[in-house]
Amino acid sequence: MDFPSYVKLVDVGPRDGLQNEEKHVPTKVKIGLINRLTAAGLSAIETGAFVSPKWVPQMADTPAVFSGISKKSGVKYMTLTPNVQGLDLAQKSGCTEVAVFAAASESFSKANINCTISESLERFQAVIERALDAGIQVRAYISCVLGCPYEGQVDPLKVTQIASELVRMGCYEISLGDTIGVGTPGRVQDLLSSVLNEVKASNLAVHFHDTYGQALTNIFVALINGISVIDTSVSGLGGCPYAKGSSGNVSTEDVLYMLDGLGVETGVNMRKLLVASEYIANFLGRNPSSKTANAIRNKNLK
Ligand code: HMG
Ligand code: MG
Repeated sequence: MDFPSYVKLVDVGPRDGLQNEEKHVPTKVKIGLINRLTAAGLSAIETGAFVSPKWVPQMADTPAVFSGISKKSGVKYMTLTPNVQGLDLAQKSGCTEVAVFAAASESFSKANINCTISESLERFQAVIERALDAGIQVRAYISCVLGCPYEGQVDPLKVTQIASELVRMGCYEISLGDTIGVGTPGRVQDLLSSVLNEVKASNLAVHFHDTYGQALTNIFVALINGISVIDTSVSGLGGCPYAKGSSGNVSTEDVLYMLDGLGVETGVNMRKLLVASEYIANFLGRNPSSKTANAIRNKNLK
């Protein structure tokens, strides 16, 4: 089978994971986690979000996290910016890479960013123009690509239309988000067949939450469609505050185990990744949500 020979893993754990934690995670623990992910060889790490602290208080310390981390040259440290106000804050902090986030369902768009899809695209146009003028690269997410917690099934054509619009506006990468983890491989193939009619595989990433345990299989489908950027979350952290009951992203450890097994290069070292995974799991007082992390730990304990 034909796979990309190199896959970029984007660890979204420090943002997507920790935005949903009930336990307060101090700034220094977030910094410790991001530094360990850098040491493990991740080349893209989502470090926080410049969003309203009233909506997502867990991300309120993003400026302190961003300035406190040890930045390695060549590694992208991304932050979310839903509007120009967020972009201004990101620029003040010295971010060189931001992400806007749209949804493929109106109800989720309203719940997550308090506006319609078309209003969000108008806002993003302004964010993207200003960011690109300032030399800041912009990634984009589309949430609910395989289902919405409020509206159920989502039409692949709607996702395709939003994705091609975001590329036209200047986003270099569109991350397709299965926010509530309901996708199954056949539906992922249908979605990708539609999106790939308009957007090149090299401009796409996939972002699977693992609520129903389908993420690895769905990633496999993305790989055979030529997609080589995969969002993951160390220790399987996370969920979404506006999608109750959905679990974290697929764990970085499980995806790395699969890619190592397939002989796909990632630049990420499993042993060092497990250090990051244990670090945050110990702080949170629970085992990692990763079969691989737990299997290796149990084997080492024997
Ligand atoms: P709003 O209430 O409509 O905004 O929220 P507003 O412009 O009316 O402003 C209200 C208040 O927020 C004002 O403060 C603004 O200053 C402040 P006040 O006068 O009341 O004190 N404000 C901000 N503060 C900091 N940074 C900003 C900012 N903008 C306004 N950028 C808004 C609209 C977009 C701000 C709000 O809805 C919001 O912050 N939403 C973010 C929700 C979020 O972070 N969700 C999770 C991330 S998305 C996700 O997890 C999905 C993803 O992982 C992919 C997937 O899995 O599908 C990416
Ligand atoms: Mg997510």
